[in-house]
Amino acid sequence: MNLSAQSEWLRRVEAEYRSSVITQRLTLWLTQAGASPDLLHAGLRIAADELDHAELSMAVHRAAGGGSTPQLDRASLEHPIRSGDPLEWDIVRLGVDVFCLGETVAVPLFRYLREGCEEPAAKAALQRILRDEVRHRDFGWTLLDAMLDGPLAPELRALVVRELPGWFGRIRASYAPAFAAAQTALSDDDRRWGLMPAARYAEVVAKTLSRDWVPRFRERGIDARAAWDRAATS
Ligand SMILES: [Fe+2]
Ligand SMILES: [Fe+2]
Repeated sequence: MNLSAQSEWLRRVEAEYRSSVITQRLTLWLTQAGASPDLLHAGLRIAADELDHAELSMAVHRAAGGGSTPQLDRASLEHPIRSGDPLEWDIVRLGVDVFCLGETVAVPLFRYLREGCEEPAAKAALQRILRDEVRHRDFGWTLLDAMLDGPLAPELRALVVRELPGWFGRIRASYAPAFAAAQTALSDDDRRWGLMPAARYAEVVAKTLSRDWVPRFRERGIDARAAWDRAATS
């Protein structure tokens, strides 16, 4: 019985449902845009992975003594919606924000969670999730490359440069609750259940900026460091 593990893993179930919705939406848009079947199959597989993650997270909630059901916020699951801009713009917005940023930082976050985790149900969940997140991250960068490979490349690259500061600005706020327990100091038992202190999140994000985002965006002609600095000051 561990109350913080119960509530944290239940929140993760909700987050995994949200991830599946977002990935289904992105894959639908990609299908409408006539993307290659390889990319579409990869997207559909990810949407299914997220449901497996939800199931595994639910099993951890129960193993920690929980008996609740997830509270799915239907209004938030309506998002993202089409903006009225060209379809490719919305695909790039969602792909970069959720996959190049979100799933890319998720890899070191889950690695950290798995390292301290000892409870069998939580360990099994984190092992599977971590394995999948590496592929989910790669999907984002492959998708961005595909979008920057066509005639729309100049306007799509300009879109990323323009909107990246906003996505960076939100990333802490949108990801922290899914990973960090509410309390600042975790007990050893919480850590065994795969929880992490909120302070650690900021460290992982900072490392991801220099190790992943800056070099990966640079290869694609985008200055992530400048975007980060703009996000920090705006
Ligand atoms: Fe997931
Ligand atoms: Fe994922």
